[in-house]
Amino acid sequence: MSQITSLPQRQPDLSARSHGLARTAQLSVVVPTFKESGNVAVLLDRLDGALDGIDWEVIFVDDDSPDGTSEKVKELAAEDRRVRCLRRVARRGLAGACIEGILSSSAPYVAVMDADLQHDENLLPRMLSVLKGGDADLVVGSRYIDGGSAHSFSKGRGLMSRAAGSLARLWTHVELSDPMSGFFMMRRDRFDPIARSLSTQGFKILLDIVLSAKGSLRIVEQPYVFGSRTYGESKLDAQVGLDFLGLLLTKLTGGPVTPRFLSYALVGTIGLGVHLAVLRLGLIAFGLIFAEAQALATVIAMTGNFLLNNSLTFRDKRLTGLAFIRGLIGFYLVSAVGALTNVGVASWLFYYQPVWWLAGLAGALMGVVWNYAMSSPLVWRTK
Ligand code: GDD
Ligand code: MN
Repeated sequence: MSQITSLPQRQPDLSARSHGLARTAQLSVVVPTFKESGNVAVLLDRLDGALDGIDWEVIFVDDDSPDGTSEKVKELAAEDRRVRCLRRVARRGLAGACIEGILSSSAPYVAVMDADLQHDENLLPRMLSVLKGGDADLVVGSRYIDGGSAHSFSKGRGLMSRAAGSLARLWTHVELSDPMSGFFMMRRDRFDPIARSLSTQGFKILLDIVLSAKGSLRIVEQPYVFGSRTYGESKLDAQVGLDFLGLLLTKLTGGPVTPRFLSYALVGTIGLGVHLAVLRLGLIAFGLIFAEAQALATVIAMTGNFLLNNSLTFRDKRLTGLAFIRGLIGFYLVSAVGALTNVGVASWLFYYQPVWWLAGLAGALMGVVWNYAMSSPLVWRTK
């Protein structure tokens, strides 16, 4: 028979806490990185200089950069306990990186800034004192108010940045001079409640925060001069631009039309074009009978859609290797059921309302909604 002895109860040791050893930093600086190995040490040095007298930490959130950024950060962390590295694998996205970095912090104040030294770290102490003053929840570094500038931008890039800002103001009534800024500081207790509503794609984290807070944030802007990048290159591309328009549409339509869905629908439209082109080619050039040509067009369009969705729509969940093959087969199955749904709905509608284009459109819409709703979680394993 085994004997049960009761172990002496261990009293929690509160002394560390009361002596301040377990105390969290006042300010977490969250720095998203992708291929910034040449910048992180310089940035740390600059933060050290600028934040003198402030209790701070820096959290580098690296998306598994192939240039060894996270290894570099861990070397720095080995020497300096204020440095943390959050290495994310199989994921990409500036906004998502910022969100996870902020969520990993317990500090009452969190800042987000770029790693490439384009954001002026000397603004951080001022931002912090504005927040501590208690009259603001969010302080935004702006390139477009008096005292700020973005003269390092090329003409085209400057124009685009301003146009995006104007569009955002026009469509969403957000009163920010620089809604595309990636440089801001906020109270963490204001961030936590809206974390779930934020999109992890693209670059527009600030705009998303402000819109998701639905006017509840007291915002102050501070000017700064946008520096030029010396090491590495910008990751902002056309996809980021599309994604930004998508966010505006999502907010305008109040939810269901997400950037991902728009991208999926766009790919579907391209797929339709491919389908018709192959169908015609099969009939005319190769002299196939209709059923053969239609089958060929279907397979080619489905495969094309899968490839495009895998590299654009779900680029943050991109499938490779064996998962790619499994995903492709899954996509064929989902699309086949989608096609049946499409035909079913269209025929049913046509029976009651014999307007061919209306029935056709409704069927196609049902098909794309079905395909999207099923392939997102099943093929690309989104949550
Ligand atoms: N973790 C992670 N994942 N970090 C990323 C990713 C990503 O997918 N893409 C970019 N970053 C990091 C970069 O390493 C850099 O530290 C920061 O995010 C900004 O990226 P850049 O590629 O330097 O952007 P930019 O300078 O062209 O864009 C600037 O203007 C935008 C719009 O006006 C930045 O200030 C952006 O923050 C701003 O939104
Ligand atoms: Mn940059």
